[in-house]
Order: sequence, then structure tokens, then C-alpha cells
Amino acid sequence: MRYGYFDDARREYVITRPDTPLPWINYLGDQDYFALISNTAGGYSFYRDARLRRLTRYRYNNIPLDTGGRYLYIRDDQTGEFWSPTWQPVRRALESYTCRHGLGYTIISSIRDNIEARIRYFVPPSQNLEIWDATILNHRDESFSLSLFSAVEFALWDAWDDSTNFQRNLNTGEVEVDDSVIYHKTEYRERRDHFAYFACSEPLSGYDTQRDAFLGPYCGWDNPFVVEHGAPTNSIAHGWAPIGSHHTKISLGPGESKRIIYLLGYFDNPGEDKFDPPGSQIINKRRLKPIINRYLDIGQVDEAFDSLVTQWERLLGIYQVETSDEHTDRMVNIWNPYQCMVTFNLSRSASYFESGIGRGMGFRDSNQDLLGFVHMVPQRARERILDLAATQLESGGAYHQYQPLTKKGNDAVGSNFNDDPLWLVLSTAAYLKETADWSILDELVPYENTPGTEEPLWDHLQRCLQYTMDRLGPHGLPLIGRADWNDCLNLNAFSKETGQSFQTTTNMDGKVAESVFIAGLFVLAAKEMVELAEIRGLTTLASHYKVTISSIEAAVLKHGWDGEWFLRAYDHFGEEVGSHVCQEGQIFIEPQGMCVMAGIGLGKNLAMRALDSVNKRLASEHGIILHQPAYTKYYLNLGEISSYPPGYKENAGIFCHANPWIMIAETVIGRGDQAHDYYLRINPSAREAISDLHKCEPYVYSQMIAGRDAVAFGEAKNSWLTGTAAWNYVAITQWILGIRPTYSGLVISPVIPKDWKGFSAVRVFRGVTYEIYVERRGPGDNISLIINGNPVEGNTAPIPADGIQKVSVKALIG
Ligand code: BGC
Ligand code: NOJ
Repeated sequence: MRYGYFDDARREYVITRPDTPLPWINYLGDQDYFALISNTAGGYSFYRDARLRRLTRYRYNNIPLDTGGRYLYIRDDQTGEFWSPTWQPVRRALESYTCRHGLGYTIISSIRDNIEARIRYFVPPSQNLEIWDATILNHRDESFSLSLFSAVEFALWDAWDDSTNFQRNLNTGEVEVDDSVIYHKTEYRERRDHFAYFACSEPLSGYDTQRDAFLGPYCGWDNPFVVEHGAPTNSIAHGWAPIGSHHTKISLGPGESKRIIYLLGYFDNPGEDKFDPPGSQIINKRRLKPIINRYLDIGQVDEAFDSLVTQWERLLGIYQVETSDEHTDRMVNIWNPYQCMVTFNLSRSASYFESGIGRGMGFRDSNQDLLGFVHMVPQRARERILDLAATQLESGGAYHQYQPLTKKGNDAVGSNFNDDPLWLVLSTAAYLKETADWSILDELVPYENTPGTEEPLWDHLQRCLQYTMDRLGPHGLPLIGRADWNDCLNLNAFSKETGQSFQTTTNMDGKVAESVFIAGLFVLAAKEMVELAEIRGLTTLASHYKVTISSIEAAVLKHGWDGEWFLRAYDHFGEEVGSHVCQEGQIFIEPQGMCVMAGIGLGKNLAMRALDSVNKRLASEHGIILHQPAYTKYYLNLGEISSYPPGYKENAGIFCHANPWIMIAETVIGRGDQAHDYYLRINPSAREAISDLHKCEPYVYSQMIAGRDAVAFGEAKNSWLTGTAAWNYVAITQWILGIRPTYSGLVISPVIPKDWKGFSAVRVFRGVTYEIYVERRGPGDNISLIINGNPVEGNTAPIPADGIQKVSVKALIG
């Protein structure tokens, strides 16, 4: 069953009923100011750091679901009847309702009693404010007088403190109201130089800033006393819970409409000039006023919206494809790169499943996310790489997470996730292939953000590999540390304490448990380093890495092959994990994907056997399961993986992030049908028709789909912020469609289904537009390239001479 449809021409998903199985959300903002917005206008906003600079309050796991957001109330002043044009929070029936989630904006429209409302929410590019652009239309035959009330609830900045420290926080709230603008200035009197503001383009008939005055005793957002009575109280918050609510009165003749603009924003003053007049306690608004005036102007609002649309056209124009499969086209051309940008901006911090107060930016996550957005915003990818490298430790290891506001490593979680540093090599290589900006390797970057420890990024990368080499276990395989990519395979935790964090508990010395997955990842990363060293003319270093690659490969072949698939790990006792000898957890997806991607065992045909085993034992109609059989009880020696009930999350869920590794592996051995079949199984658009089972948004990937062992097999969770976005993008664009940046040019090497006659694509690479036509001439994947009409050897379209901006590529495959 569907709850809407894709409008590909407008690059929107259109939700046609408000009661989706879960709130279906979107993100606004592109630089520092971000907002989450659901299909019924729920959600919250923050500046840079979802925990430390939270503008509006949102209660997770709340009842009714998804209460709290950016609300408007329309009140018929003749009858006293009122409703929410976004359905929530009043939830009165609407005669028509649509929510159009687009790229960086959301438009919610509805009609009730012949009164239409349309609210367009967006953040202008690079601005620290959001616009609610509301239009009310009277379709009645007579005039209509209405009251329009807005409502947001301010968070007292630190979202964690805001939801725990009530003995203080119920006393600190402060606001100012000036003209049609409500200012939230809690703690501005002391060490905060920032404040929030909520402006309205119309003159006010009144306002409220104290929540209890607005709602009335024991009332909720669905039935505010002030809205019910049509009479604001002009309350000024003093402690308790500051809110912002404007009241405007509007009269519309038959067929008339009115546009009202609201701005919700963040502003920072210089500390020494934050009060006006100096010495007072009044916010200095001189710097902010021009911004407010600008965006309350309808012409400026339209211009800002157009520039948002143009920005996305440019970003998406870098890779566009036309195939015979609509799910592929839609995800590649619109939604997958969009999700990649969102994961780039937010890492794993703020979604409807991530509370914004828990995690900072993950080291491994952010490096992998980069693979999906580097082609769109290379300059920002560069910054991100340098930020990440600056949190590396001198040992070569890395802080598992860092805080976006301070860019400092997070001590509470620390390091010792032994896969972490290797991902930095992959992200840097991806950046270099995309941009050829070799200067990044010479950038001086500190360790642990400590001044005086700076070394070129190139040295950091060498330490990444060295970190693994310094930590080999009894079988010559990399030691796993706290965990590798699978955060829940905690082979050194041995946690018995109720409530202890698996992420930070280590009870064993970590000298035995080894990871075959890290071995595969190491080989993949070390091969990148060999290529880089050779390009830089460092032949001795390249040979050194080749030797280490061979020794790790040999260890995998000797101790990491289980007979029909790659083993997952050795535990603290030196026993196999992910082997046919195990009772549960006999085969895992991760090493099959990673080892084949790294090219291990290709010559010996092990790759094909491993992938056939995946197909036989792990593949399901809803995607490829993480491991089988699921763990049915808690294993002290395995940790969190066995803490989940069977079929969920890392315990035999369909962990979507690892699925594209298998897709890529399938292309490595030339099986395009199989690769694309797996691609479609988790492709959100291809799952739209089963939205009532899938439950999450049909336009973005979710981290997890419940596995075969779960009660709700096929139900997704944790949408939006997941490495699934980047890896699926890489799998489909670079490996299945086969258009891949390399140091010397653009490789065109599609491994597509046999029944595809071909496809066409446009890829802007290093400033040159490649127009690519792929034509199938036979069933195989051999390529003949014709560039600008001339046949060339190999599968690489080289970078043309300076000044040439367009290259036409014809690829014949067969
Ligand atoms: C989740 C993992 C996550 C880890 C770190 C675990 O509870 O299952 O998916 O990576 O927490 O936050
Ligand atoms: C989610 C985490 O963000 C990621 O770092 C990890 O690799 C996966 N879960 C698998 O555990």
C-alpha cells in the first residue's frame, strides 16, 4: 500500500494522507542551520550542533507520535472553529491534504471548509534561518475572517540539559518582544552571545511567549486555550517554558488570498556588543534587523527559494542517468545523492531515530559518507577530511567520534575501534580521484588536535596502515579492538553489568580476537596507498605496502577461509566466529563483501563461492541479512550483537549498509543481474508499494530492515542517517552503471543486467561534461570505448586537453 507518489519532474515525494505509518520527514538547511520537518510539520531546528545549539524543543518517543513542530492554527472567527492546516497538532479532518517533500524544502497544503492553506518551509542557501511561507486562500462565496496563530516551543539550547535539568531550567527562560518579532534569549544575560528569533511579516494583534498562558492549564498543542478563545494574552515568559506565538487577524473576500511570512532563526552577536544600549540587558538587534527585513519581503523569499532550486539542479546535474528502470533513475538522479548530502551534514546526530544529543560525528561514518558526496561538494569534502585527520591519534588510531561544534575527539567514547583509521585512506583516495587536488596530501594536520604535532596528511595516511600492521593477532590477522565496522561484534567486552555500554566496555586485553573484515578493508586501503605511492614516485614505499598486502592476503587465505565463505573473526579464545562449525552466526555478510572488493581470493575462485554462499544463506526478498543463523541468546564472548532479539539490527537484521558491498562484489565477478537484483531489493522506491510493511519513507534508505527471524520481516527502521546512502550510491553509480573516477580519467565499465539494452548518462568530472551512451551488443561485460568518434584502448575516458569542456563517450558492451 502507498501513502503518496513520486513526482519526479518536480523532484518531490508527494504524501497524500497525513497518517503515514511513521512520520515521514525531510531536512532543511545546507550549511550551519538545520531543521527536521515531518509530513505534518513536526520536528525541530538547530544551529550546527543538534545537542548544544537546539533552537526548538522536540520530545522523542512522545505520545501522540510526533507532537511538537512548526505549527499554525487557523481559527474561523465567526464560528470559533479551528484546525491545523498541517493536520497536526489539532488533527481535525482535512478535505484535502498533500505534503511535498522536495530537495531542501517541504510544502504542506490542505483545504478545510473551502479555506485552503499552503505552507512552504525552507532554509535559504547558507542562511541561519528558516522561512515559513504561508498562503491562505478563501474559496468560499463569502468573506472570511480568521485568526492565524503560530507556535513554536523554544529549547533552552543544550538539548540534553533541556530535557533533564528542570530545577534550574524552569527558572532561566527569557524573551523579548519587539514589533512583530519574538526573541528567545535564555542565558543571553550570561555567557551566550546567541539568541533565536521568530518573526512575522504581519502586524500582530497579540502574541504569547509563555507556554502555559498559550495552552492553558492541562491543555495540549491540540487544544490551546488561546486559540480556542481567539484571544492571545501577550504573555512574557519568565522561566518555565518560553514559546513563540504570533496572533494575526486576516479578512479575505471571496477568492482572495494572503501570503504571510514567518522567520525562525539563529543569531550571534559579538560578545562585547551584545546589548543595546550598552549596559542594558536588551539584545542588540542592529546587525540582525536587515536580515529580518530582507527575508520578510516576498520578492526576496521567492528569490531565495529559486536559488535553493538552482543549487540542487547544479548539484544533481553532476551525475544524471537514464535507464530502463525507474527506481534506478529516481534514486540515482534525485533521492540517493540528496540523502548523501544529508548524511554528510548530520552524520548520525539528528533524525527521528537519533535524538541529536547522543552521538557526534563518527570517524568511520563520516569517511564513508564522503564517498557519496565528494563529487557534489569537493571543497567541503576537503575540509571534512582534514577535520577527521586532526582527530587521529599519534598511534595511527582515531577517536571514534568528534563533536561538530568543537571538532575535538569525544573522550567519552575514546578510540580502539580498529577499523576506524583505514576509512580515512578510502575517503582521501576518493577525494583525490574526483579532484586531482594533490595539495591535500601536503596539508599539515595535527594529531588529537594538539598544536605542535602537525604532519602532512600523507603521513597520517601511512600511520593509518601502520596502526593495523602494529596490531596483528595470533593468525596474522588484524586485531579487532573494541569492534570493527560492526559496532556490536564486541569480542573483548565480556560485559555482564546491566546497562553497561557495549561501545565503551573492554574487559579483555584485546590481544587475541581478530577480524577478517579488517583484513579485507586493510587490503583495499593498502592497494589505494600503493597506487598513491606509485603516482608520487615512492617506489620503495609502494613495494613495502605490496609486501604487507601479500602477507595479510596470505593470512586470510590460510586462516580466514571457512571452506565455502570467508570467516568473520576469531574471538577472545581464538575460536571461529562466522564459521560452519558455529551453532549460530555461521556466515556473515561483511567479510564476503569486503574481501571480494579487496580482490582477495579472486584468482582461486573463492570470491564466486563466497558470493554464492551469500545468495544461498543470506539473501532474502527484503535484502541481504547480516548473518545467519541469528543468535537466539546472549553470548558473553560476542557482545551487543547477541543482545538484540533475532532479526533486528546487528543480530541478523538486513543491515542495508553492508548490502552494496555485495552488489559491488558481484560486479567485480561480472554478475550484473545479481548485483542489480540485490540493488532493487532494498531500493526504497522499489519498496514504495509495500509502504505499510516497510513503514519508513519510500524516498530514502533506512539503516535496517527487519530480517527473516523477526516478527516484522521486511519492516524498516532508522531511516535517513546511515552509511547505506553513500555505499548504495557508490554501488549503483560506480560499479553497476560503472562510471568511476580514477586518477587518469573516467572509467566506463558497466556491469548491468543482461536484459538492459544500454543506458545514457551525463557525468561532470573535473569540470568536463561527459555524455555517455552505453549500448549492449552482446551478453557480456567487455567494453569497447569510442571517444568523440574515435575508438580507444581500455575502459578509461581520459581527461581532455585544457579548454575542452565536453566529451562524448560511446561504450559498447558485450
Ligand atoms: C547499534 C549500532 C550502532 C552502535 C553505536 C548500537 O546499539 O546497534 O548500529 O553503531 O550502537 O552507537
Ligand atoms: C551504525 C554505525 O553508525 C556504524 O558506524 C556501524 O558501522 C554500523 N552501525 C554497524 O554496526
